[in-house]
Amino acid sequence: MPENKKNKNKANFLQPPKGTHDVMPAESKWWDRVRAVTQKLADAYHFSRISTPVIEHAELFSRTVGEATDLVQKEMYTLKTRGGDFLALRPEGTAPVARAYINHGLSRTGAIQKMFYIEPMFRHEKPQAGRYRQFTQIGFEIMGNPSDPFYDAQLILIFAKLLEELKIKNVSLKINSIGCRVCRPNYKKLLQNYYRSHLKDMCRDCNERYKTNPLRLLDCKSEQCQPFKAKAPTFFDKLCVTCSRHFKGVLEYLEELGIQYALDSQLVRGLDYYSRTVFEFFAETPGERIGALPAGGRYDYLVETLGGRPTPAVGGAVSIERLVETMKAQAVTLTEKKTKKVFMIHVGDMAKKKAARIMEDLRKAGIDIDESLSRESLKAQMKMADKGDAALALLLGQKEIFEESIIVRDLRTSAQETVRLSKLVEEIKKRLK
Ligand code: HAM
Repeated sequence: MPENKKNKNKANFLQPPKGTHDVMPAESKWWDRVRAVTQKLADAYHFSRISTPVIEHAELFSRTVGEATDLVQKEMYTLKTRGGDFLALRPEGTAPVARAYINHGLSRTGAIQKMFYIEPMFRHEKPQAGRYRQFTQIGFEIMGNPSDPFYDAQLILIFAKLLEELKIKNVSLKINSIGCRVCRPNYKKLLQNYYRSHLKDMCRDCNERYKTNPLRLLDCKSEQCQPFKAKAPTFFDKLCVTCSRHFKGVLEYLEELGIQYALDSQLVRGLDYYSRTVFEFFAETPGERIGALPAGGRYDYLVETLGGRPTPAVGGAVSIERLVETMKAQAVTLTEKKTKKVFMIHVGDMAKKKAARIMEDLRKAGIDIDESLSRESLKAQMKMADKGDAALALLLGQKEIFEESIIVRDLRTSAQETVRLSKLVEEIKKRLK
């Protein structure tokens, strides 16, 4: 390897790869909060956890997310194995869950399956605020539902609750229907007819989208295409009767549940498997825009596309990274539960060994105990005890060992008392009450 390349690698290998990040202990409390709220909601709405492999056959995504999508064309991390398989690091969770659903015969049971996951996803995107190359998605999926608008609304409700419980404010929900197999082809034609004469003044991507996926013309962010987008025909009045009724049903449920929404006729989403309802939540944050929070929709044909029985389904996902960044940007404070902790302090080698044993006895009795036994000085250990959120400190020295006792010190009042070791558990429980 040339010397300069070697040096560059040397400098870089201590950094996580571009677009990835460590979640350090100090940061973990935010992640724990998000995971805990997710689990609580999953329990309340009867969703069961599903975990699928980080690697999948790349074809799973080209067949479902769409061959022509950015996700498949530009963002997927793929690899060829020695055995000749063409695999991808999972860029999203819905297709793998649908694959597992078919693979494990759930498609045949006809029962409604409510599943959720908290899993890392990988996309080779340009890193920026709220956009990573490895991120952790929380996803909720309901498969096998009879395309009932109740389920679309329930799914949206769960995400609204997630944001509410995380104290994320100034939330907005955009919603649209992108029709079904019956009405979408007509709308696509209508869009192509409208855009045809404008193509020469539009961006290169839109010229491509015009041929491969005309719906995505509505998703273009480029400045030069905005005037044409603004006048594009909307889907609302082109939906077939069934889709129109379904969409009306979803909106009625949302109103019943008190969830505010804004209709957005240009919301189409970047993945091809959606049909009918699509939605995206946003939250206002000072500074840089973080992007969509929970987002998803109905995907009534996905399971069928993979060879399963026709299985209407609806789902959505949000990354923990974006949730945490939003909470921080909105200055949400985490109220930490004060634990009633005890801190063990030793003086001398003999006491250190005995302390190890006493701590185990206390843990067995359900008492939360911490230590900094590697520090030898009493002062340094007292400092650690004061820094934490302990209520009591236990001091053990040579004298106490011989007397089979220990000093219990109240860290708030500094009052201390010698207690017999045989009575320690009882005594601590009494004081922590
Ligand atoms: P998606 O819109 O690609 O949909 O991603 C869903 C959410 O994942 C986004 O709204 C955002 O919160 C988060 N996200 C996406 N890309 C990144 C990134 N590069 N960095 C950080 N966060 C990101 C899906 O993935 C669908 N599977 C959602 C779904 C589930 N639809 C039905 N069921």
